[in-house]
Amino acid sequence: MLLEMKNIMKLYGELAANKNVNINLKKGEILAIVGENGAGKSTIMKILYGLEQPTSGEIFLDGKKLHFNTPLDAMKHGIGMVQQHFMLFDSMTIAENIVYSNEIRKGIFYDKRRTNEAIKNLSEKYKLAINPEDIVEDCPVGMQQRVEILKVLYQRADIIIFDEPSAVLTPLEVDELLKTLKELAIMGKSLIIITHKLNEVMEVADRVVVMRAGEVVAECMKKDTNAEELSFLMVGRQIVTRVIDPKETTDIILKTRNLTLYGDGKRALDNINIHVDGGEIVGIAGVSGNGQSKLIRCIAGLQHIDEGHVYLQKKDVTNRKVFEIREAGLAYIPEDRYLWGSSVNATLWENALLGYESSYSKKGIFDMKKVYSHGAGLIMKYNVKAGSVFQKMKQLSGGNAQKIIVAREISKNTRLLIACEPTRGIDIGAIEYIHNKLVEKRNQGDGILLVSSELSEIMSLSDRIYVIYEGKIHGEFRRGDIDEQKMGFLMAGGELNEN
Ligand SMILES: Nc1ncnc2c1ncn2[C@@H]1O[C@H](COP(=O)(O)OP(=O)(O)OP(=O)(O)O)[C@@H](O)[C@H]1O
Ligand SMILES: [Mg+2]
Repeated sequence: MLLEMKNIMKLYGELAANKNVNINLKKGEILAIVGENGAGKSTIMKILYGLEQPTSGEIFLDGKKLHFNTPLDAMKHGIGMVQQHFMLFDSMTIAENIVYSNEIRKGIFYDKRRTNEAIKNLSEKYKLAINPEDIVEDCPVGMQQRVEILKVLYQRADIIIFDEPSAVLTPLEVDELLKTLKELAIMGKSLIIITHKLNEVMEVADRVVVMRAGEVVAECMKKDTNAEELSFLMVGRQIVTRVIDPKETTDIILKTRNLTLYGDGKRALDNINIHVDGGEIVGIAGVSGNGQSKLIRCIAGLQHIDEGHVYLQKKDVTNRKVFEIREAGLAYIPEDRYLWGSSVNATLWENALLGYESSYSKKGIFDMKKVYSHGAGLIMKYNVKAGSVFQKMKQLSGGNAQKIIVAREISKNTRLLIACEPTRGIDIGAIEYIHNKLVEKRNQGDGILLVSSELSEIMSLSDRIYVIYEGKIHGEFRRGDIDEQKMGFLMAGGELNEN
């Protein structure tokens, strides 16, 4: 056995994030770890990578007992981790990022030529296409992830940990990643991957470990199981695909008229005319990077519009301040939960309060009893795994942090909700709950604008879908005549020849 983690226990105060966890790994094997939000998946991997110290338990590598105080220790022993939130220096080149702190030198100087050459060889060896001299911030997310992987390979890691690597990728990038994982295993690397996507598990894993409430509750070979069984083991019940009844729409809630944003050279957003009516979920489908994020930012007041208008419940809110637009009836689940959606160092009650300030204060003084019970209410309703409202946001697992933001925004009861990647990082049981909440809101007569890189999510929830391509609306579908193939074709820039 290459790696053995034995009886690992990790306590955070009262809470056992890991309880007697045993995990093994063979050379050349791909192990998947699945489980609900807060099950302890990230914790056990942080312990392996030296980011957290176990309360008790032992780690053996090639039969030798080891202890990792820091990631540097773990790296020295050939263990690397591809973080979900990339740890790259945006303004440096790819090569500089990969060799950072292990630079190739000529005398005391950084040897650019030899570095670039070494990186090129590495990238060819592992079929991870990059250009060493590109600046990281100009690279798409999928490429940034390849840089993270190359960095770990450059440090000669034999065991590589991936914590939800596909969460931030487009479907095409996910395919590339899965290919890479298989390739790495064939070349003798041993991989551990945490994911909520059971189709990915079924595609790449050799073995699966299921965790629940800090413990390993099942372990099996991939060939002896299937996605249904795994989902049952994860959440303890059957997941049903929901069918949404058609619904009459009412008034127009959101409308953009000729919304245009100039980018460098060509228009980043070009004459966008969309609307969302009461009683409908409107999806925006598009390959990421085609303007969907910019469009949402324009509507939400985070980006200045060059031409055109945004109307929210008939009120012209073009280029208004964010709080004015929110006051006019917008709730907004942003794409990046840590960048825009929350404050990681603040408590849960503070995070739950954002946007509700005026409802719980009189003359600028908060009614703290009400504030706390509002936070506690959201936590209970959305089954967020948290100790109390006084915990900090950063102490929550990724999926539970996302649940707080989703709960806060859906519960706002505004006529319009913009939901960007609402279920990113969320386990399949909680996805079902959030989808139900979105449909409930729509059935109350509110409007929802849904942006998701998960095409299945857009297709199953939307009453209407706009396809966006290169900053233009490139097609529209209605529930009933949604055609996945046609949609994919339009998303890739294809032109339909009507009639
Ligand atoms: N620094 C910390 N302080 C207190 N509790 C913590 C801390 N880090 C993690 N926890 C708790 O440990 C438990 C396990 O968290 P972990 O991040 O391992 O879950 P996970 O399985 O990765 O979930 P997700 O799918 O949401 O990412 C959670 O209940 C979390 O709140
Ligand atoms: Mg996690």
